[in-house]
Amino acid sequence: MEKTIDENKQGNSLVLEPKANNDRKLFIESYGCAMNFSDSEIVASILSKEGFNTTQNLEEADLVLVNTCSIREKAEQTVRKRLEKYNAVKRINPGMKVGVLGCMAERLKSKFLEEEKIVDLVVGPDAYKDLPNLINEVEEGRDAINVILSKEETYGDISPVRLQSNGVSAFVSITRGCDNMCTFCVVPFTRGRERSRDPQSIVEEVNDLAAKGYKEITLLGQNVDSYLWYGGGLKKDFKNATEIQKATATNFAALLRLVAEAQPKMRIRFSTSNPQDMTLDVIEAMAAYRNICNYIHLPVQSGSDRILKKMNRLHTREEYFRLIDNIKERIPNCGISHDLIAGFPTETEEDHQDTLSLMEYVKYDFGYMFTYSERPGTTAERKLEDDVPEEVKKRRLQEIVDLQQKHSRYNTKQAIGTVVEVLIEKESKKSDAHWSGRNERNTVTVFPKENYMIGDFVNVKITDCTSATLIGEPVGYSDNN
Ligand code: SAH
Ligand code: F3S
Repeated sequence: MEKTIDENKQGNSLVLEPKANNDRKLFIESYGCAMNFSDSEIVASILSKEGFNTTQNLEEADLVLVNTCSIREKAEQTVRKRLEKYNAVKRINPGMKVGVLGCMAERLKSKFLEEEKIVDLVVGPDAYKDLPNLINEVEEGRDAINVILSKEETYGDISPVRLQSNGVSAFVSITRGCDNMCTFCVVPFTRGRERSRDPQSIVEEVNDLAAKGYKEITLLGQNVDSYLWYGGGLKKDFKNATEIQKATATNFAALLRLVAEAQPKMRIRFSTSNPQDMTLDVIEAMAAYRNICNYIHLPVQSGSDRILKKMNRLHTREEYFRLIDNIKERIPNCGISHDLIAGFPTETEEDHQDTLSLMEYVKYDFGYMFTYSERPGTTAERKLEDDVPEEVKKRRLQEIVDLQQKHSRYNTKQAIGTVVEVLIEKESKKSDAHWSGRNERNTVTVFPKENYMIGDFVNVKITDCTSATLIGEPVGYSDNN
């Protein structure tokens, strides 16, 4: 999965090449979105300079760090269960220190140290450079916390180590934080104001990944379309920028072009797009460069204008349709996916039907679908009653999931008989005689291995499909190798 890693699943514990002189062991695992996984790579990079090698064995760790997600109640419960597990190990290995990173750290702050006695260290998403100092504090027997949010920090100067990577695809973060204030969402509170990273450091990171043999990158941000670099500073302050800064500013479309030209053979993806900020310029950049994949993750959250307004999503259903029309017109064969929330406060059956009819219009390739989960401190929590009964939320979600399944199947069926370019990522989970990769539209594709290798671009003739996967026969290398 590209974006949201299902929070029910085990977090991924991550390992990298050991450094010979490092004698401390770090166990680091991540829950939640791709940004958390990317941040853990920055943390591992900072700590490898502090004498830590990573381990996958919790029992032997000197330091355990868990990068956490607050987006829904369930995500937090999963982390709490992991904290219980660390606690059990700590009873056997009392020297082990435990730290909480990321959104839960930011949301709960010192409550973690007070209530959860097993936590020694609490570090918010903008304070990772302070980890060496904080770890010293902990080693001297004090609890340590830094949850200060920054207006500047982008970690642009830190070259992340690639944890548990397939050596083929990597995330490159381009913005941090979010200014959108969707009323249901905790991210603006846990990740702070939106900042963009210097384009130079982004291109350098992409060049470096290409030199190391990577074939695909995903530019990451909560809202990539609002990327804006004018020499540093918050986006909201752009109005105060000098004329020169305004004239030379880099927006997201320009960044896409820069990266696409820097590495013409590198597949470029990006996530997440916000319909209210996605410009024609971005769509045209996608159409103009072969290496920018024809795939857009375009969360909509609801198909009802009334609910969109209550969510503070700044577009209407009609505007969303026009955006979809523009995409389909300019980028034929573009994959589109979504996020949807069932049961936002006050949602009626009519609103829900609007969501289903919106899905009918777009016929998404796939989506991430959730029931509404009230989050402390958000506008929705403060101003709206969570009044849709749980069983109604669940039933509506099921209807959304069923319809998505139908559309996914419709889309994969269209591919039968066509030839698609696949970048091989790994062995298929179901068969060691097959490779698994994705086509440009981001659909998983499996085919017999023959003599192809991980990292090859292969043309695959599609002969069969399930709702989520294309199945085919390789017909040769693509000209992108
Ligand atoms: N812009 C971000 C969105 C992060 S949250 C990004 O990069 O994807 C991912 C998705 O979680 C949202 O699009 C929304 O569909 C869902 N979500 C956020 N808050 C939620 C809540 N309180 N209840 C249920 N789902 C929520
Ligand atoms: Fe959340 Fe909306 Fe930003 S969903 S991350 S506040 S775009």
